[in-house]
Amino acid sequence: MMGRRKGTWLVACVLATVAFWTSGVPGSPEQSESSVVTAAPGDIVHLPCYSEGSVMPSGARWLKDGIEVEPGGGGQPRVQVLSDGSLHFPRVAEGDEGVYRCEATLPGNMTWRARVLLQVASGPENVSLAIVPSTVLPNGTLVAHRGSSVSFHCAAVSYPSQSLAWSFAGTLVDAAGGTPLASAPSAPWLDFRVKDVQPEAQGFYMCLANNTLTHVVAGTSAQLLVYYASDRHPECSWLQSSDPTWVHFNCAWPGCYPDPELRWSQIGDEEAEQGRVLASEATSVLRVSLNRSLLAGGQTLRCAGHHSALAAGREAACSFTLEAPRPHVSPLMWAQEGNSVTLACSESASVPPAITTWSRVAEGAALAPGPKYALSRDGATYSLTIANVSRDDVGTYFCRSENALALRRAEVYLSVTAASDYTGVIVGIFVAALIVGLAAVTARLLFANRHRICLGRPFGSSDGDTGDVLSLVDSDEEQIFQAVPRLPPVTDPHPTTLVQVHRLPSGERENTGNPEAREEPPDLVTL
Ligand SMILES: *[C@@H]1O[C@H](CO)[C@@H](O)[C@H](O)[C@H]1NC(C)=O
Ligand SMILES: *[C@@H]1O[C@H](CO)[C@@H](O)[C@H](O)[C@H]1NC(C)=O
Ligand SMILES: *[C@@H]1O[C@H](CO)[C@@H](O)[C@H](O)[C@H]1NC(C)=O
Repeated sequence: MMGRRKGTWLVACVLATVAFWTSGVPGSPEQSESSVVTAAPGDIVHLPCYSEGSVMPSGARWLKDGIEVEPGGGGQPRVQVLSDGSLHFPRVAEGDEGVYRCEATLPGNMTWRARVLLQVASGPENVSLAIVPSTVLPNGTLVAHRGSSVSFHCAAVSYPSQSLAWSFAGTLVDAAGGTPLASAPSAPWLDFRVKDVQPEAQGFYMCLANNTLTHVVAGTSAQLLVYYASDRHPECSWLQSSDPTWVHFNCAWPGCYPDPELRWSQIGDEEAEQGRVLASEATSVLRVSLNRSLLAGGQTLRCAGHHSALAAGREAACSFTLEAPRPHVSPLMWAQEGNSVTLACSESASVPPAITTWSRVAEGAALAPGPKYALSRDGATYSLTIANVSRDDVGTYFCRSENALALRRAEVYLSVTAASDYTGVIVGIFVAALIVGLAAVTARLLFANRHRICLGRPFGSSDGDTGDVLSLVDSDEEQIFQAVPRLPPVTDPHPTTLVQVHRLPSGERENTGNPEAREEPPDLVTL
């Protein structure tokens, strides 16, 4: 038992300080002696009266505080005057202390006087120490939790009185001479309290009791540990091994004292809440290594941390759910010969993160960066840029994404257009655009002049007629209808023109449905 060292030093001894003097020359009628006797309760005590030579006093009497001490009669006497004149206490008790005087009659009728101071002292005894609340480790060390309010209690028994003092030191060796924390000059017990215990309070606490009469010191000490758990959660991370089918999972929970109990478990869809325990250890960092045969997408890997400083039943944990890689690409890409093209592959699903590379052959090596290929990464997008694209670059490219769970590929087919083909396409598009444009212009012109085209032949001869017609056609339909009622007053030589304009849309529609209608000037004729 090294943790709590308890030592009690008890003095149960008799100190006799004798101050001896003689007054006058030998043979004078009065001689005296003065002494001090200290005893512990229960001790056998002799208070000496006359101890010179071999002469026995013929009689002796003892007075305490001026009152004659009555030797006890019968049974077990409390005090006796022995034949040599000394006062005998078979068991001295608390309360027997005091100044005792002896008067002995020596041969020659001389009187001998002695004065003895009897001190009764005991302790310190039963020095005890308590630190509350705390738990006790098997080696006796006490444990408090950070942030708790802790009381330190010390008590001892001393007679006639004692002083008490608490001290603190980082090591047991220093404990006696440690930092003073509290003291009381005369008290049966001494308490103090630490409201918010911190790790700095960890160390050895010693309580010393000092007998105020004898200055005998007794003490006891205890080691206090302050336990704490981190306020943060454990951190789960992974480390890809050089073999892609193996992965190391790391769980770190620093900032706890002592080290927490960390446990990695693997929870599949069909498994129980706690899953299968992979590893469990008292450590601040716990690593497990798993290979592809033990891993599947959708599984959860969880690291739970337990610590005695956490409330009962509580745990701190981190976890992640495994996912196989899912590379994503645009399946078809075009590039013009001589230009560069960038193929992009996004991979954001994979847990742990995949290593994503580009290759030309499904099982082939990854394309290395160089003058031809540039590889870049922007977040979850892995890009391959092919410079100076030629016909040789036509074909399938593989975006290969692998983590410890699986290897997945996504394919891109690259088509390369020759520069000349491209010119041809441009020319073709230009020509097509030109044709479409011409057609549009023509159509617009035809629309704008459709009346002239329709009516031009009958009335083309007159410039004035044309002007009238155009002004009406440019108006919208509503205006045309409004204009119709005003027709009667118009004394135009060609009133039919206006009617014809109004009817023209139906005529056009008829034209599309019935080609013969075009050749039908009867409308005109009837009007
Ligand atoms: C008692 O045990 C605790 C924890 O096991 C240890 O930290 C401490 O140092 C031990 N104390 C002694 C005095 O051996
Ligand atoms: C995967 O790990 C298990 C258990 O550690 C082992 O039995 C198995 O042989 C390993 N498989 C491979 C391919 O390394
Ligand atoms: C592009 O490639 C062609 C052959 O495919 C080569 O003749 C030409 O010099 C290259 N151009 C550049 C800028 O590298």
